[in-house]
Formats: sequence, structure tokens, C-alpha cells
Amino acid sequence: MNPFHYSYPVTVHFSEAVARESLAGELSKYGKNILLAYGGGSVKRVGIYDEIIAVLNEAGKNVFEFTGIMPNPTYAKVQEGARLAVSNNIDFILAVGGGSVIDCCKIVSAQAKLDEDIWDFEYAQHKTPTKSIPMGAVVTAFGTGAEMNNGAVITNEDKKMKSPLWGAFYDFAVLDVNYTMTMPMKQVISGSFDTLSHCMETYFGTPRETNLSDEINEAVMRNVIKNMRATLKNPDDKLVRSELIWASAMGENGILKLGKITDFQCHMLEHQLGAYTDCNHGQGLAVIHPVLYRHIYQNAPAQFAKFAHNVWGIPKNDKTDEELALAGIEALADFIKETGLPTKFSEMGITDIDYRAIAESTIITGGCCKKMSADELLAILEECK
Ligand code: NZQ
Ligand code: ZN
Repeated sequence: MNPFHYSYPVTVHFSEAVARESLAGELSKYGKNILLAYGGGSVKRVGIYDEIIAVLNEAGKNVFEFTGIMPNPTYAKVQEGARLAVSNNIDFILAVGGGSVIDCCKIVSAQAKLDEDIWDFEYAQHKTPTKSIPMGAVVTAFGTGAEMNNGAVITNEDKKMKSPLWGAFYDFAVLDVNYTMTMPMKQVISGSFDTLSHCMETYFGTPRETNLSDEINEAVMRNVIKNMRATLKNPDDKLVRSELIWASAMGENGILKLGKITDFQCHMLEHQLGAYTDCNHGQGLAVIHPVLYRHIYQNAPAQFAKFAHNVWGIPKNDKTDEELALAGIEALADFIKETGLPTKFSEMGITDIDYRAIAESTIITGGCCKKMSADELLAILEECK
């Protein structure tokens, strides 16, 4: 493995019905002015909002609301949140939602403490922000693991880029199983596939000789596959749901990445697809992954063969690494179909977009087993149609 330093700043409160008590304890540590951030209204429909407002009122907080954070949050929305935070002297941001709300608030918290435009600060000046408003996350939709890291994916509509920005870590994350039980099953599945994708994107990075991070990763991947099947059969099973929530956090809490340089080429391509189509993240990944892997497996046949055997349980028999690798990719593709995820962009309602522009604006990653060219990314996108 590569050398690493490990410490983790996010306190996690994980359980069924853990939100009320853990929030009351955490909120007592922060100032009075709270920015309560949420999405398009699901939190109000399902009763989460009422419970959280009650805790905030009991704690005597002044609550300012930042609402309507959309899936695939935009840079304009980040700026709106930062203006709200500054004008109301916000002491603490409470993000209640899925990856979109959680990501948006990471950058709101940094932008509010920065005089310069944070996109230019990070992309033109290559600096990372050092100050931020403290934040807590209440996860209502899992899969991204966004509550565990300090990266955010933001759509800059003017630049037609959906790109990573870096903010602060959350001080704490509340993973309350009950809060996720109202997620639409489509989102449970696309979110869980996102978790699986984070694991794969880490596993296929470097180095690839046997290492503990990869072996833990294999266990997480097997767990996600098993529990995606189980949650489809028993949507009300809270034990199954809780496993998926923790697996989601495990995908992004750094443990699987220790000593690894990650891949994330599939993510970079899907993010740019998102910039052009505003599509669901996990669904976009599901379409691209098998196609991308059929293009690259010959550059790391032993790792793909290990994936086939250790994750999908495909017997080695007398197969070559390449044969085993391909069987693993086909098992992944079959699983995508089995769980009702899309296998073509057309099934996501995506038609007629500028695939060349997407390919040419995609960030090329360093950890991928094959350095991709824009032409190859374009070929992959064309095969996904
Ligand atoms: O907006 P509301 O009305 O709240 O509805 C949301 C939204 O429509 C709904 N929802 C959330 N909790 C619910 C619920 N509906 C019923 N009951 C609940 N308890 O779910 C919909 C999707 O929410 P969203 O937050 O957009 O989904 P997700 O968690 O998949 O987040 C996607 C975003 O995260 C980014 C993606 O690119 C995308 O922008 N990612 C962030 C990552 C990170 N920071 O580490 C990693 C990922 O790779 C990903 O890129
Ligand atoms: Zn993802």
C-alpha cells in the first residue's frame, strides 16, 4: 500500500430513532443562529421537518431556512445559501437531506467565509478554503456517503460543468434509519448503486497487489449487493436498510481508500453527463460502468478477475484472468438489469445530446488502469445510448 496518515473528523450517530436525542446533544455546542437547509419538500411531507424544528425550538435557536436545494445542486444555489448565511450571521448550518443538500451546504459554509468567488479560488487559483461555518448533516437519502467527506459536486450552469469543489468536513452526521424509510425505492436502488460504484472506483485504483483496504472493500461490495436484493424483496426491513446506510458511509469515510489512489473515471464521465442532462447520479453510473469496464479490463485483468471471484462468486475453474474478468463485468451488468436500474441512456429519457462536448469536458483521472482519451470516452458514451 502507499503511505498514509489517517484521522477522521466526522462524529457519526447511527441507529433507529437516533435523530432527536443526538441532535439535541450536538446543537448545544453551537451558537444561536442556525441555517436549516433542505431540498424540495420531502422532509415536510414525511414529518422529518416537524421533528427537527421541535428540537431546534427546544434548544432555543433562531432558525433561518435555506430551502429548495435541487438534486444536482447548482452553483447559483450555493451562492444563494452563502448570502443567506452571511446576512443572518449564521453560527451553524444543519443540512437535512441526501447528497445534494449535504454537498450544497459544504460549499455554502466555505463560500460564506471567503470574499472571493469559490469556483475561481479553487479552479483558477488552485487554493482550498481554510475557513467555514460549522455544519451537521442529517441524512434522509443515503448512497453518496457525502456526509463523510469534504468534497461536493456542484453544477455550474454557466460553465456547463458538474465538478468537485472542496469545502469543510461535517462536525457530525446523523444516520437515522427511520428517516430513510420514505425514500422512493428507485432512489434507494440508485443510491445504493452509487455506493457500489464508489467501492469499485476505489478497488480498481492503485496499487492492486493484495491489501487490507481492498479486502475490506470486497466485503462492503458483497454486503451492498446482498442488501440491494434484500431491500427490493422487503422494503420495510430496517435491518437491511441500516446495512445499506452504513455501507454508504463506509464507501466515503476514507477507510477503503487508505493506501490507494482511486479511479473515479466513471464518476467524472457521469458528472459531465449530469451537467448536460441533470440526470440521476446512480442511474447514470449504472449505464456507464459495464461499458467503461469492457473497455479497460484488459489493462488490469488480475484485479478484474479477483473482483469476479471474490465479489460475484464466479468459480475460477480453468478460466484465464481475462475470461474471469469479463464474466465479472457481465455479472455486474446482469445485476444492474435485475435491480431495475437502466442499462441505456434512452431508458433514462436521455436522447439527442452533445456527447462529444461531454467527452471533451470530462476530467481524466490519474488512478484509472487506462488513461482515457476524449475519443475513447466518446465511444463509451455512444455505446451507452
Ligand atoms: O428534494 P427533496 O424533496 O428532499 O427530495 C429528494 C430528492 O428528490 C428525495 N429524498 C431525500 N430524502 C428523502 C427523499 N424522498 C423521500 N423521503 C426521504 N427521506 O430524494 C431525491 C434525491 O435526493 P439527492 O440528495 O439528490 O440524492 P443523492 O443522495 O443521490 O445525491 C445526489 C448528489 O450527490 C452527488 C451527486 O453527484 C448528486 O449531485 N454526489 C456527492 C458525492 C460526495 N459528496 O461525496 C459523491 C457522489 O459520487 C455523488 O457525486
Ligand atoms: Zn457517486
